[in-house]
Amino acid sequence: MSLISVSLYSQEVNYDENKVPDFQLPELLTTFHGKSINDASAWESVRRPEILNVFREQMYGTNPVHQVEVDFKLVKNKEKVLDGVADLKEIDLIFSNDQGKHTARLLLFLPAHVEGPVPVFLGMNFYGNHTIHPSASISLHQSWARDNPLFLISDQKVDDRSRGVRSSRWPVEYILSHGYGLGVIYYGDIDPDYDDEFQNGLHPLFYKKGQTKPTEKEWGSIGIWAWSLSRALDYLETDAKVDHDKVIVFGHSRLGKTSLWAGAQDQRFAGIISNNSGCGGAALSKRKVGETVKIINNAFPHWFNDYFTRFNNNEEELPFDQHMLISLMAPRPVYIASAKDDEWADPRGEYLSGYYAAPAYKLYNMQTPSTIKSPAINQPRMTESVSYHIRSGRHDVTRYDWAQYIRWADKYIK
Ligand code: GCU
Repeated sequence: MSLISVSLYSQEVNYDENKVPDFQLPELLTTFHGKSINDASAWESVRRPEILNVFREQMYGTNPVHQVEVDFKLVKNKEKVLDGVADLKEIDLIFSNDQGKHTARLLLFLPAHVEGPVPVFLGMNFYGNHTIHPSASISLHQSWARDNPLFLISDQKVDDRSRGVRSSRWPVEYILSHGYGLGVIYYGDIDPDYDDEFQNGLHPLFYKKGQTKPTEKEWGSIGIWAWSLSRALDYLETDAKVDHDKVIVFGHSRLGKTSLWAGAQDQRFAGIISNNSGCGGAALSKRKVGETVKIINNAFPHWFNDYFTRFNNNEEELPFDQHMLISLMAPRPVYIASAKDDEWADPRGEYLSGYYAAPAYKLYNMQTPSTIKSPAINQPRMTESVSYHIRSGRHDVTRYDWAQYIRWADKYIK
């Protein structure tokens, strides 16, 4: 994906650190009205809400207030699957109101060898829950799927042939063996990832009478994906086998943008992981390295709200930048990961957003990254606030990434 984009936009893409424009990041601890924020209580009551609000109104979109009821239905409950190491549940999240009904499925693996409630990693996947592991116990979905000859997905439908095709990104047994559960939702169950002016998926349930698409400030796909992760967390809170104070939201790439936005809005998430989230995720927009605001809005007009297009080629005017998104995680631990060959996502900009989020964590007297220098390749730098690594290799989720996330979660969350 990123390679295609690079060649398409190569003329306007900068990868040269010497050509990064001079830019000024908005002060984290000064309100939009110029008031200084000096303690955690002022942060929580004044600055944090206004930052959250500006991201809602000007980027990811506001969540419509129109009410939708969410019911949970346990549709599968199997003990000792995956050679006895996992208990498996499938839970339907059923969204309904007078406009209609829509269903998405949460797949939950819990470690069979652990008695008590366990911490859980929760995230979304790109092709379906059945792609994260070859197990025949996982249901196939009926939703739209992106065609992919490599995964034998055609006619926008999946079948048995795509079981486990993304298992390299989801080392299920490895995660379970460390005492964590893993919950996943297929993002296409919530909103198929293409621009159809929000006619399919869950969006239409939120329209007021006569409304046919989100308004300029209302949410796009990332907004509704993130909101759905919170609905999955609502379910996890009802499951006695889950330690719901220890749910970590995880995502890769566009779904890393999503996990950050979910973690920013929902403070019940105990930890947040952004894997190669890039532009619109952890990378600072004002650097304009790799993918830019204009490029992302043109290629994926459905991800953010329409208001965000005002900053196309106009990052200088952004009243915020992504370090402020990271600051919304405070005081919870956040892990940002990059890959060396994933220049499209601007690894340096991903590091810096975490670095510049430090003032928010300092209000809680927390230890923060000590240097503006990015860590060396494959040398993770973990702190109780912001952690970061850049691994060798390309845009992907690897066993190496998961090994760091587990080490980090063992230390700061479990
Ligand atoms: C494209 C897009 C990125 C995104 C990535 C992905 O490369 O430009 O913003 O993160 O797809 O989701 O894989």
